[in-house]
Amino acid sequence: MSTQVPSLVPGLAGIPAAESAVSFIDGQQGILEYRGHRIEVLAQRSNFEEVTWLLLHGELPTAEELTGFRAELASYRELPQGVVEMLSKLPADGHPMAALQAGYAALGMHCEGKLCARGDDIAQIIAATPSLVAAFARLRRGEEVIAPDSALDTAGNFLWMLRGEKPGEIEQHVLDTALVLHADHTMNASTFTARVVGSSEADPYTVCASAVGSLKGPLHGGANERVLAQLEGIDSPAAVKVWLDTQLHEKGKVMGFGHRVYKTKDPRATILQGLARELFEKTGTTPIYDVALALEAAVLERLGERGIYPNVDFFSGIVYQKLGIPTDIFTPIFAMSRVAGWLAHWHEQMADNRIFRPGQIFIGSHGAQYSEIDSRG
Ligand code: ACO
Repeated sequence: MSTQVPSLVPGLAGIPAAESAVSFIDGQQGILEYRGHRIEVLAQRSNFEEVTWLLLHGELPTAEELTGFRAELASYRELPQGVVEMLSKLPADGHPMAALQAGYAALGMHCEGKLCARGDDIAQIIAATPSLVAAFARLRRGEEVIAPDSALDTAGNFLWMLRGEKPGEIEQHVLDTALVLHADHTMNASTFTARVVGSSEADPYTVCASAVGSLKGPLHGGANERVLAQLEGIDSPAAVKVWLDTQLHEKGKVMGFGHRVYKTKDPRATILQGLARELFEKTGTTPIYDVALALEAAVLERLGERGIYPNVDFFSGIVYQKLGIPTDIFTPIFAMSRVAGWLAHWHEQMADNRIFRPGQIFIGSHGAQYSEIDSRG
């Protein structure tokens, strides 16, 4: 009887890793839904707290549920002092994603079953993420940590705790919408990481610390930082074509373009582009935006027929820069939002858990002979 050896699918492209009802993508048509709701509608009419509830519970909250959830988040925003002290001792030139990873681990040690034992790790983690990011951003500059303001929502609080000045309405709106857009995206690398780590019954702080590690890489969340560096490296819209020719000739990737699932423009990129336009109209434009538009047109001409279009990261950096956010905080903002999706998937995983243990295709050798150390060549 012959046993059929399954063939390897690099990157597990298209291989289902779980059954999930959290979000849905149609990559050909550019459709994204959270729990059946189209992203365009949520971006226009909802907000990050409501979307977080939706992802976690499967339904939109009632007014009472939303008020209760907001109050719960507000009660968890302030970091335990021990976590702030730990953040203050990290190298100031270290990456904020590494600080966030350490922050989650420390938060778990301080909170799990101890100081914050009110039984809701999920609200604790979601509420504390912007506080961890803002605290490290200030501590590394030798500045005091700013206490959260219970009158502000997640986006408003983050800008307040980061910059120490109350954000304007348009700034809050733009960041809140960006958080809505990044909150979940089916089985991406960091969500898969969260599910794998959760499947071993690790606690949710560890789950999120692991997912942050996965999100940090430049092929995933880390792309938004690189997009800005890329755009800043192009002198003007007129220089775009030559830059692109060189990049493609050297087999380089154009950051902010391409996606494993979307073969058309990422709907989140379209919404973020609209937000960028709105922000620039109200607060003044930036030359980088014109370079970005020229690059989008040039990439479309060269790579469009291969299904390589702008992804969510292409416009997010331009927007965050305009909000006065340092470049290395862009990916942590992604994490501030995606933590909602990670925890929704963790919940789903734990409801019907089996530890992940995939197979492999062995390509090594057998029968190796052990030799003593001084006789090895
Ligand atoms: N620029 C130039 N060429 C590209 C790009 C790009 N951005 N993306 C894909 N290609 C080309 C590849 O060179 C490859 O060409 P080849 O077949 O001639 O070797 C082909 O398209 C397939 O590319 P893969 O990298 O194999 O596609 P995959 O589905 O594995 O990767 C990914 C998707 C990682 C997003 C890729 O498009 C990429 O590296 N993009 C740039 C980084 C980026 O923007 N990442 C953010 C993704 S969105 C997110 O995580 C939020």
